[in-house]
Amino acid sequence: MLILVTGGAGYIGCHTCVALAERGHSVIIADNFSNSTPRVLQRLKRVIGAPVGCEWVDLRHRSELSTLFSRYRFDAVVHFAALKAVGESCERPLDYFDNNITGTINLLQQMQVAGVRRLVFSSSATVYGAPDVVPVREDAPLRVTNPYGRTKLVMEQLIGDLCTAEPRFRAANLRYFNPAGAHASGLIGEDPAGVPDNLMPCLCQVAVGRRDRLKVFGGDYPTADGTGVRDYIHISDLARAHVAALEYLQDADGSLTVNLGTGHGVSVLELVRAFERACGREIPVEVVDRRAGDVAEVYADPALAQQVLGWRAMLDVDAMCRDAWHWQRLNPAGYRDVVECTPKALRTRHGASMSQREAHL
Ligand SMILES: NC(=O)c1ccc[n+]([C@@H]2O[C@H](COP(=O)([O-])OP(=O)(O)OC[C@H]3O[C@@H](n4cnc5c(N)ncnc54)[C@H](O)[C@@H]3O)[C@@H](O)[C@H]2O)c1
Repeated sequence: MLILVTGGAGYIGCHTCVALAERGHSVIIADNFSNSTPRVLQRLKRVIGAPVGCEWVDLRHRSELSTLFSRYRFDAVVHFAALKAVGESCERPLDYFDNNITGTINLLQQMQVAGVRRLVFSSSATVYGAPDVVPVREDAPLRVTNPYGRTKLVMEQLIGDLCTAEPRFRAANLRYFNPAGAHASGLIGEDPAGVPDNLMPCLCQVAVGRRDRLKVFGGDYPTADGTGVRDYIHISDLARAHVAALEYLQDADGSLTVNLGTGHGVSVLELVRAFERACGREIPVEVVDRRAGDVAEVYADPALAQQVLGWRAMLDVDAMCRDAWHWQRLNPAGYRDVVECTPKALRTRHGASMSQREAHL
């Protein structure tokens, strides 16, 4: 299949491109690089062993999407492109609604015009808010607590309405728990701009000396060691699930919403210990006040994904920490260390494909 991967230059997107390529699918990335860099393309080429097509597209701009869909005949779309920082979404809710919701509406419209009827969508466990019961099943009440979560819920609903109106349109909403780790090669990984929102990149940055200690938000939760418990899922397991979802949609009659997690809760301090084992050094920790909106314990019931997709997570937190550390150690400044790509390419903007731009440069 020829798959359009929106946001494919980002953390989860680039790992999924690798998994798709390994299954023999062709990939075109569409990204505006608002939270990523074209340098990842050089790394993808090394991991996959062939160049990955990429178009510089902003999903908010319908004309760019229309040009994209006129240039390729896609068989399916995997839709990652979104803004994803919870705190930022509280400060700039309209930007989040515009980028995530308008971008998704534009994408769905173009898919409809082009007759592309299969979509794998990046949703999030954030749609459950603070669940009453763990492990969380897909039929748990949905109660978002911030604008980012609201965009994910609205996007799921928009997609659901389209599936109802057009029964030939099929979608898989994948509710990720906490993606972590990196590709085993150490060539691609998580490279947050600014202060990371997630625990694993914070641990990496402390271990590599970019931060002096790890702030742990809350040591008085009703959990075994007082710190928050989450369901960390290896990025390579997560990437594989997208391939399984796409292949499911090829034959399925209807659409699907599934949790992607391991089913195991891991506390912040347990993850810190695992990371110390992986990197062989001590991680200084400072326990500070709880963060507003954080909950004590969230982990998935992943049974539906196993039953319907035949997928389950294979890699544990030790593998996540090992691979995250391997990536960080080889790339202490993330993709800023990558020298294979001309910095001029980073300064170009909309209007032409990456290949056209690179030829021009
Ligand atoms: N990382 C997580 O912890 C997590 C958890 C649950 C869900 N998700 C969802 O998974 C998806 C991917 O997350 P990620 O961690 O890879 O994030 P990321 O920021 O690394 O990747 C998102 C990519 O989308 C691109 N993008 C954003 N807006 C765009 C637009 N308007 N047009 C074109 N490209 C655009 C960014 O430049 C980036 O390359 C997101 O939808 C996110 O909400 C992530």
